[in-house]
Amino acid sequence: MELRTITPFIGMEVGGIDLREPVGDADFALIRHALNTHALLLFRGQTLTEADHVGFSRRFGPLLTHVLKQFLKPDFPEVYVLSNVVDGGKPIGNHKEGWNWHSDLSYKAEPCLGSLLYALETPPEGADTLFASMHAAYEALDGETQKRIRSLKGVHSYATYYGKAFADRTPLSDAQREAVPDISHPLVRTHPETGRLSLYVGQDVVRGIEGMAEEGDALLAELNAHAIDPRFTYRHVWQPGDLLIWDNRSTMHCATPYDDEKYRRVMHRTTVAGDRPF
Ligand code: OGA
Ligand code: MN
Repeated sequence: MELRTITPFIGMEVGGIDLREPVGDADFALIRHALNTHALLLFRGQTLTEADHVGFSRRFGPLLTHVLKQFLKPDFPEVYVLSNVVDGGKPIGNHKEGWNWHSDLSYKAEPCLGSLLYALETPPEGADTLFASMHAAYEALDGETQKRIRSLKGVHSYATYYGKAFADRTPLSDAQREAVPDISHPLVRTHPETGRLSLYVGQDVVRGIEGMAEEGDALLAELNAHAIDPRFTYRHVWQPGDLLIWDNRSTMHCATPYDDEKYRRVMHRTTVAGDRPF
């Protein structure tokens, strides 16, 4: 196994490893450490079954299942499908998932530690995914702003995100809404394993700052704009067989558009349970 940094602030490529085979404890410890310190790991050229994907994901911890049950693999409900493909009149996955800057499942009381996204089919152009280091974003804020936002909380809302992203679809059912009530999380979170601080914001999904009106919205807009400055971002150009793992405790990401009438895109995602941000 070889590790190579992708950018100085985010990302490592892990080569010389076939994830169909069990990963030894020593190698896994290196992977785990690299995820904490570099936040994004790329494994190219993999050929994973759903069982392989779930098996490797479980090494990181227990897995979560998504609230949109229609996009889960019946035999592997831990696998959430992202796709524009329609099969027999039924979408096989969620299309236009994550076309906003966000950290996965931030709308839960205990958001996920990490996500493992595996590319099965990718368009030859477009559909890149952008990743931003929230450690780098936080550390680049001036001291005054860092101090001011340390005690503030963002209100994360799946219903708000869904309403904005999927306005043309059937609204969430009452049961789905109840499964994901709004939740407040600190704007500055501490990485539970390294202690490093990061900015915890998001577009559309964070609907405001707790206890603040317009002033909070303006601050949030400012922080969101800062967080995705190109200085902190990496653009991933996908190839089929890529598995990307990211640390949702210290990054945000955003999908980019593609010609969805011309090309197919099929991606499988698992998410690893995390703990309450502090
Ligand atoms: C995700 C996500 C973006 C993409 O899987 O969590 O946001 O480009 N994906 O598919
Ligand atoms: Mn996402």
